[in-house]
Amino acid sequence: MSEHVSPSSTPHGLHIITWGCQMNVYDSARMADVLRPLGYAPVDRPENADMIILNTCHIREKAAEKVFSELGRLRKITEERKETTGKSTFLAVAGCVAQAEGKEILARAPYVDLVLGPQTYHRLPEMVARVARAGGGVIDTDFPVEAKFDFLPEEAAPQTSANLTAFLTIQEGCDKFCSFCVVPYTRGAETSRPVSSVLDEAKRLVESGVKEITLLGQNVNAYHGTWEGRSVTLAELADKLRSIHGLERLRYMTSHPRDMEETLIEAHRDNPIFMPFLHLPVQSGSDRILKAMNRGHTADEYRNIITRLRQARPDIALSSDFIVGHPGETDEDFEATMQLVKDVTFACTYSFKYSARPGTPAAGQPFQVPEDVKDRRLARLQALLREQQDAFNASLLGTVQDILVSSTGRKPGQVMGRSPYLQPVHFEGDPSLIGRVVKVRITTQRTNSLGGVLCEEALAV
Ligand code: 5AD
Ligand code: SF4
Repeated sequence: MSEHVSPSSTPHGLHIITWGCQMNVYDSARMADVLRPLGYAPVDRPENADMIILNTCHIREKAAEKVFSELGRLRKITEERKETTGKSTFLAVAGCVAQAEGKEILARAPYVDLVLGPQTYHRLPEMVARVARAGGGVIDTDFPVEAKFDFLPEEAAPQTSANLTAFLTIQEGCDKFCSFCVVPYTRGAETSRPVSSVLDEAKRLVESGVKEITLLGQNVNAYHGTWEGRSVTLAELADKLRSIHGLERLRYMTSHPRDMEETLIEAHRDNPIFMPFLHLPVQSGSDRILKAMNRGHTADEYRNIITRLRQARPDIALSSDFIVGHPGETDEDFEATMQLVKDVTFACTYSFKYSARPGTPAAGQPFQVPEDVKDRRLARLQALLREQQDAFNASLLGTVQDILVSSTGRKPGQVMGRSPYLQPVHFEGDPSLIGRVVKVRITTQRTNSLGGVLCEEALAV
């Protein structure tokens, strides 16, 4: 397979399939970056690819089964390609399932050439060469001493089609060990990217036209990157990012309530590029279950954080994750979650039935909640959350919102952009508005989007 390792004037087709979170989206883009100097260019279809990478997610149920079924499908495609064109396809599995089940993958799918964990993407070119020498079946799922951030190429291109918004990973891994979660095992201990490296990437993104950056990390508000020999918090990093001319909007995800320091709450008041929208998973509203989950805070401590955030930034809206049916969850515990939702009110949420992840502490606990109970609880929770989301969208009717215009709209003469709360907003306007933040009065509410009217004075700015 040496045809895949040497730089070449004829580009090799690279097809990356990405499952899971924004960290994986970011990682896929970085894998494409490290492979570009070797002559790999993206292709849309696996049928045309010389290399296929399946970037996997392990967070919920049956992750490994889904990987094996997708690998079976890809195997057929690569075999057909070999028969019809004589060309072989390099098949790699990356991401958290690769990290957790690397050996199992090579045993059950020996046609896979390479299995690589999330911490080793910067070594991808070297590994591709190693596969060429070994004839396939290489695993690299170490947590290497060198940080991958130090090795990823500098010329990273923004990933979104419109190039106005981009993700930037600043932190990886997690030391929190929530009872239900695989991340500390698949992504390893918490590491933060040095400040100068974050600023360099942010500047490059903004120079290429990006107006909005979302800082990513499994525990992004635990960020503690170094700057001139000292440790810097997320609030301080955001303050430095604020001075990049042309960067208009800043977001971060995913945060943990335990790391919601006062200085970060104050930054929501003081840093004008912070968007008034925060994803802060709470998982449960029951103190007993929060304790069993090892979350390290109570329901009231979460309520208190929200109160302080709303004092600092009255227009802030909240997003969260919930799990129903964690082992030991009683009706009373579930009612406490419903009560917390009623007290806090959320604009947007993700809710899941607990599913046991092998190797995590909760998986082995007694008192697993029956599936039908989980189903009923989830349906009730989601009905309440849906009501709150609709009420939040309705509360914007008649208000003027800053919209970052990103593309033409569905109908002729329309453009579309995102509100500070990430809702798609459609309104009549000229395509020359694309790339600008303009004021739009919200006039209509649809199921998954809003409609509005451009404020004339916005055009004069
Ligand atoms: N079961 C159900 N939901 C889970 N999550 C993580 N692990 C599990 C699990 N074992 C959810 C949490 C987390 C989100 C990314 O996925 O709510 O915040
Ligand atoms: Fe998983 Fe988040 Fe808990 Fe870390 S803080 S163990 S990533 S749920």
